[in-house]
Amino acid sequence: MNILVTGGAGYIGSHTCVQLLEKGMELVVVDNLSNSSQESLKRVEEITGRKVIFHKIDLLERDWLEALFRDYEFDAVIHFAGLKAVGESVKIPLHYYRNNVSGTINLCETMAKYDVKTIVFSSSATVYGEPEKVPITEDFPTAAYNPYGRTKLFIEEILKDLYTSDNKWNVVLLRYFNPVGAHESGKIGEDPKGIPNNLMPFISQVAVGRRKELVVFGNDYPTPDGTGVRDYIHVVDLAAGHVKALEKLIGKSGVHIYNLGTGKGYSVLDMVKAFEKASGVKINYRIAARRPGDIAECYADPGKAFRELNWKTERGIEKMCADTWRWQSRNPNGYE
Ligand code: NAD
Ligand code: UFG
Repeated sequence: MNILVTGGAGYIGSHTCVQLLEKGMELVVVDNLSNSSQESLKRVEEITGRKVIFHKIDLLERDWLEALFRDYEFDAVIHFAGLKAVGESVKIPLHYYRNNVSGTINLCETMAKYDVKTIVFSSSATVYGEPEKVPITEDFPTAAYNPYGRTKLFIEEILKDLYTSDNKWNVVLLRYFNPVGAHESGKIGEDPKGIPNNLMPFISQVAVGRRKELVVFGNDYPTPDGTGVRDYIHVVDLAAGHVKALEKLIGKSGVHIYNLGTGKGYSVLDMVKAFEKASGVKINYRIAARRPGDIAECYADPGKAFRELNWKTERGIEKMCADTWRWQSRNPNGYE
């Protein structure tokens, strides 16, 4: 299979590239490197012993996209490219809508023109808004409370409309829960620019001495220890979900929606403790007020992906923390 991977230099994209290459697939990566470094792809080459074809292209540049589709014949596109910082999206919403929504429209128009109609899209558990109960199944109502979440929801709707307009489209919407961890080699991992928004990179930067302390956002939630509960999923398991989705769904037109999570919820303090155990480093933290927009509890029912894709997660929080620590301690400043 010949796959176009948009955003393939990023965190989840680079881990997915490893597995696609290990499966013997051919791939072309496009990325504008706005939130990543080409070094990640060099490391992917080191891990797999295979060459990665890379083009630095922004999805907003229609002509370059066209040129790419003229030069290569793709069987499918895995579409990771997008901006993902919730807080930033509130400050610069138009930038988010242009980048994520317009970028996706450009991509789909080009795909349609060159008759490439299979797209696997990186959606998010954020599309469930504030779920009424947990675990969350794919048929739960959707909602979004910030511009980032709305870009995910709008793109899901756009892709569904595309299928309605032309039943040859094969649309796979993968709703990720909370991706963490790193490749076992310690060569690739999450390398957020600036101050991390997410819990795990923050914890690991405290552990490595780049940040003084973790601020725990609220300990008065209706959860066992009062801190927020999430479904953390090892990025290698998440990447495997993409490979399974391609293998099982290629040639099966339709709109296919899957939760990619473990089905288990862990609190902020559970993650701190697990990380301390895996790293042997004490994590300084203090409790502060809740972060606006956060929900108490969120975890998946991943049963549909198991039944239909034969996919389930294999790595628990010990491994998530151990692999994050290996990556962070070997690369204290990320890819720099
Ligand atoms: P990432 O920022 O590491 O990767 C995204 C990549 O897309 C980056 O390399 C960036 O440079 C590139 N990119 C952004 N806009 C582009 C454009 N216009 N043209 C070309 N390249 C562009 O993020 P990630 O964590 O790997 O996330 C991948 C996808 O998964 C994103 O769509 C994100 O919204 C989604 N997602 C992530 C999480 C998470 O917590 N990491 C959760 C749910 C969904
Ligand atoms: N948290 C802290 N301190 C921090 C960072 C996070 O206490 O410095 C807490 C949060 O309050 C929350 C938990 O850790 O309870 C997880 O927070 P993250 O920011 O890591 O993740 P979220 O669940 O808020 O959101 C993430 C992505 C979203 C995505 C969502 C579901 O950031 O883009 O998962 O996939 F939509």
